[in-house]
Amino acid sequence: MSVHLSRKTRILIVGPALAEAAGRAFPEASLETMDPGALGVATIPPGSADLILIETASADPGDLARLVETLATWREPPATILAGAQLPASLARALYRMPRADVLDWPLTPESLSRAVAPLMSAVEAPAEERHARCWSVMSAVGGAGGTTLAIELATTLAGRNVGRVGLVDLNLADGAAGAYLGVSANMRLADASAAPERIDTALLDAFSLPSGAGFDLLAAERDPHAFAKVSPLAVCRLLEVGCQVYDWLLVDLPRTRQAWTPDVLAGSDEVLVVSELTVPALLAARALAGEIEAEMPPGRRPRIVLNRLAARVFGPAPSRVEAEKALGRKVDGAITSDWEAAACSVNLGGPITHHRPRSKIVKDVAALVDTLAPAEALHGAAPRPAIR
Ligand SMILES: Nc1ncnc2c1ncn2[C@@H]1O[C@H](COP(=O)(O)OP(=O)(O)O)[C@@H](O)[C@H]1O
Ligand SMILES: [Mg+2]
Repeated sequence: MSVHLSRKTRILIVGPALAEAAGRAFPEASLETMDPGALGVATIPPGSADLILIETASADPGDLARLVETLATWREPPATILAGAQLPASLARALYRMPRADVLDWPLTPESLSRAVAPLMSAVEAPAEERHARCWSVMSAVGGAGGTTLAIELATTLAGRNVGRVGLVDLNLADGAAGAYLGVSANMRLADASAAPERIDTALLDAFSLPSGAGFDLLAAERDPHAFAKVSPLAVCRLLEVGCQVYDWLLVDLPRTRQAWTPDVLAGSDEVLVVSELTVPALLAARALAGEIEAEMPPGRRPRIVLNRLAARVFGPAPSRVEAEKALGRKVDGAITSDWEAAACSVNLGGPITHHRPRSKIVKDVAALVDTLAPAEALHGAAPRPAIR
């Protein structure tokens, strides 16, 4: 998982290449560089840095070891990362005394640096006002299982419950369908923003988003077969970070194929919903996908499984819910009835089923799923954020 460090975070950097990577990974943090040659004589006042990044090849190993030993004596030692191909033993030994420390291989990228810093700084960062945004990600086990439909109906249902500002981000960057389903054009120029992800801020997010007409904002990109190659992991992570500042509830329509940024999105999601239909291949795919996702999630957390298009057994030997749970090896967390007429009518007219066919069983089932997943306090206690537009 990557991390966003705010202006308040003071980073001390020893080594020019690290300074460059840190500047890109943490554009808002206050960075201070230190001349490696001056290490032997320089003193660093206790408490003067929150994070220290050291390029091991840049300075004398003895000086560096003494520096780390000194840091370990601070009452609250800073998070410390050493980056370098070969770590001198004296330095490694000094590093063991630090409560929050890590070692990174060379060469490093802004992404690898951000990932290494995330677990060291996550408890310190995350200002109180940013902690309450909720993020649910939806992923289909097989194409057409209903991931996009569910993401749209969840966003509509949540927006209707007065939970504050709701946003839906379609991360199917190559061929997302959420805009077409809602009859809204796509305006998220994430490929352009990837050149300077640090510039993604609330104003840019506002320019990317469009009102869906269903009480929530849509962030979706225009169709582009090369989009996944053009969009950097840092840009996706930054987009979601800023999204969590702007919105109270963020829904993410995730592509089925794994991208470099998929683990970050999963780790940052409060809930991950795997959508399956009631066919044997879809259930097998859902079981495998749920296992893969679980391996990526923090310990103790599991994805939810939602069965979509549940129908009476009149169209041949479809598995029952009980049989489906047996095939999945776990209980399902929600089930959505099949209603082709309502689904087709809504996508043809442009807009959620909740609006065009409010009596459809799909609407009732999605509401029940929200009741299951969202704690009552989240549904009733969220103070709406002021709109930025
Ligand atoms: N519960 C449902 N009943 C009937 N049709 C549905 C249902 N859920 C989705 N659909 C339809 O199935 C098709 C595929 O859904 P979609 O949400 O695009 O799947 P995915 O995003 O997983 O590819 C769409 O035409 C959609 O309208
Ligand atoms: Mg889809």
